[in-house]
Amino acid sequence: MALKVLMVCLGNICRSPLAEGILESKVDPTEVFVDSAGTGGYHIGERPDERSIDVAAKHGLSIGHQKCRKLTPSDLDTFDLIYVMDQSNYQNTVALAKNKQQREKVRLLLDEIYSETNEVPDPYYGGLDGFENVYQLIDTACETIAKRLQNNL
Ligand code: 4NP
Repeated sequence: MALKVLMVCLGNICRSPLAEGILESKVDPTEVFVDSAGTGGYHIGERPDERSIDVAAKHGLSIGHQKCRKLTPSDLDTFDLIYVMDQSNYQNTVALAKNKQQREKVRLLLDEIYSETNEVPDPYYGGLDGFENVYQLIDTACETIAKRLQNNL
């Protein structure tokens, strides 16, 4: 049975769709299932933000098929690992956990790598360079995660 990894941000239209596409591109899909969700419900059913679609395409990834959904309490049962982008996502996700085992599934994505900050900044209100920065941060973290998952499978 595949290991299940969930990427979480606020809107599920900018950061976590990129994280889903990037990690998916680095793992064997028969061994690792990757999905994403948002703690907020502002964009349910929508495609990722055009700027995320464009920055992914620039790096050879297609994420335009993804559909925004809201994080649910059952995600903490279903998924083995849940990576969040910032402290606010962390608090909102851990708040849905029923026990210690579920709380321990939730991790800050950038804790996987050395970075000046442990948060992936929200690029929604900024320019395109913010999306490229987010792409690079997520890509570096996902490279480490993919290698670790491959060695532990
Ligand atoms: P994300 O960015 O959490 O990286 O998807 C956001 C997208 C939309 C909103 C906030 C953050 N919003 O408030 O609509």
